[in-house]
Amino acid sequence: MDLLVIGGAGYIGSVVAGQLLAAGHRVTVYDNLVNGHRAAVPDGAAFVHGDVLDLDTLIRVLRRGFDGVLHFAALSLVGESVAEPARYFRTNVGGTVNVIEAMRATGTPRLVFSSTAAVYGVPDEVPIPETAPLRPISPYGASKLATDTLIGYAAAAHGIAAVSLRYFNVAGAWGGLGEDHRPETHLIPLALQVALGQRPHLAIFGSDYPTPDGTCIRDYLHVEDLGHAHLLALEAAQPGQHRIYNLGNGAGFSVREVIETARRVTGHPIPTVAAPRRAGDPPVLVASSERIRAELGWEPRKPDLETIIADAWEWTRAHPHGYPE
Ligand code: UFG
Repeated sequence: MDLLVIGGAGYIGSVVAGQLLAAGHRVTVYDNLVNGHRAAVPDGAAFVHGDVLDLDTLIRVLRRGFDGVLHFAALSLVGESVAEPARYFRTNVGGTVNVIEAMRATGTPRLVFSSTAAVYGVPDEVPIPETAPLRPISPYGASKLATDTLIGYAAAAHGIAAVSLRYFNVAGAWGGLGEDHRPETHLIPLALQVALGQRPHLAIFGSDYPTPDGTCIRDYLHVEDLGHAHLLALEAAQPGQHRIYNLGNGAGFSVREVIETARRVTGHPIPTVAAPRRAGDPPVLVASSERIRAELGWEPRKPDLETIIADAWEWTRAHPHGYPE
């Protein structure tokens, strides 16, 4: 297929772009390079420097004729979204409004969208199925829920074949592509920066959550396994349907357990300091991915947290300052 990967210079978008190329698809990456990196665009992909908020450029690019769009371009930090809600809605909801309008204007048939576990808020049950109540507790989660809602209506109205993938916590590296956020806010890359000697310690945001060790529990998925789900979603998408799949391993690890695993993998003590809770963080997020396993045959190949962190560590050591600018 001929595919436009919007946000394909970011962490997950670049890995999926690389996997699409490896599977024989033609790939064009569209990215404004605000959070993405030109060096993360895989060899073999065409590149357009464009913004998802620029509808005219999106339409002009899609007019070349594409079989589908994979839309990763978004703001994705829970804590930041609490401080800047309008910016999150503008980029995440407004950006996807543009993607859909451009797809409609150009007759582009398929959409795979990056949604999030943050749409569920504080769940009543874990693992969380797709049928769980949608009660986001952060502007980030609310913006992604609004977008998922829009995609459902757009699939029905315009016959778009759409799939939303609700990611839980993604980590690891694939094909020489890894995680390079500036500033970095995610637990695993920060722990590895401490191990590398770039930071003195790691803050633990909240030790009084209703969990066994008092720290938040998350479901960490290897970016390679997450990427594979996008290829399956693209093949399975049906005109006029909006499918929704949760993506995680189904196992939860606390912040302390993640740090302990990072200590084992790196052989570094990774000192920590206690810090207050971060706004917008639910205590526990663990995925049920039964639906995508049953319907698309998805199966994680690297479910082990130690492997996920080891792959991230290998990338971090090879790229101690991230991608070149
Ligand atoms: N944490 C710390 N110290 C840090 C960084 C993080 O204690 O220095 C904690 C957080 O409070 C949280 C956990 O580690 O409890 C994981 O935090 P991350 O920032 O790594 O990831 P999040 O769970 O906040 O968010 C990620 C993505 C979101 C997505 C969410 C879904 O960034 O886009 O997973 O689970 F919505």
